[in-house]
Amino acid sequence: MKPKLFSEEFKDKIVLLTGGSGQIGCVIMNHYVEAGAVVLNMDITQPISFLELPESYCAGKPESYFLMADVTKRTDVEAAIEKILRIMGRIDILINCAGISVFTPFEKRTDDEFQSVMDVNVKGTFLVTQAVSGHMVRDGIKGVILNFGSIYGVSAADQRIYGDSGRNSPEVYAMSKASVIHFTRYMARYLSPHGIRVNCLSPGGIFANQAPAFVRNYVYKTPLNRMGTPEDLIGGIFFLTSSMSEYVTGQNLLVDGGFTIGD
Ligand SMILES: NC(=O)c1ccc[n+]([C@@H]2O[C@H](COP(=O)([O-])OP(=O)(O)OC[C@H]3O[C@@H](n4cnc5c(N)ncnc54)[C@H](O)[C@@H]3O)[C@@H](O)[C@H]2O)c1
Repeated sequence: MKPKLFSEEFKDKIVLLTGGSGQIGCVIMNHYVEAGAVVLNMDITQPISFLELPESYCAGKPESYFLMADVTKRTDVEAAIEKILRIMGRIDILINCAGISVFTPFEKRTDDEFQSVMDVNVKGTFLVTQAVSGHMVRDGIKGVILNFGSIYGVSAADQRIYGDSGRNSPEVYAMSKASVIHFTRYMARYLSPHGIRVNCLSPGGIFANQAPAFVRNYVYKTPLNRMGTPEDLIGGIFFLTSSMSEYVTGQNLLVDGGFTIGD
């Protein structure tokens, strides 16, 4: 599925995407590049094939570049954004996609596990948003910010669907994603005087060869009768980062096959 409405919308746009090396991030990256954008992938994991952002950039070439940066570290984030601005001059679209979880049960949660999830999902989203929105405000860029939430930021996970699959949906992930969804509302109002929009997209479970029993249980609870794919998210992502949504801010779009509409 390739949304057709956005053919010219992203041409020459500079997109900063965190977590672009992940299963969802790399699909997002490819779609923006195909649509004519330049994508800067800020991640701690190198994709299999990648280009580092060269010191002299030749405008007009849709491409993706990799910048090694840990979103939980202010120095990494600020250095990466300083480099992007020095070379590219601006950031039009920020997508905060980097995120992690843990799979141990609530009763066994350690301080380190708790902190690591909150650090990437909450502090990382905060740090990158602070640095990029600072640039947008300073330089008069009426940009767009898109955060990544989750179905589990709005609905309580039914632990029964996980069985003995070795996965579960932990409380700290739910807390972190609820926080991102509310941060989205806060920032949407905060940045509105500058013409900057902030929205959130919350995916449902993406199929990634999970245990068959879990997939069966998950699909049973999903009105559209299947797990999601990264491609399912592209229409919503393009909508929320284009002029098609110019009167939309502070919203959380659930792209989940109806999973959260109730049992
Ligand atoms: N996959 C799903 O079923 C699902 C469902 C709902 C929400 N989400 C959310 O979608 C987003 C992407 O998920 P995904 O499935 O592609 O995950 P993924 O694990 O495949 O990718 C996450 C990426 O984030 C990067 N990352 C982790 N810590 C980082 C850090 N400190 N600094 C910079 N980069 C870091 C990883 O290296 C990885 O490339 C996440 O925010 C996730 O919570 C995923």
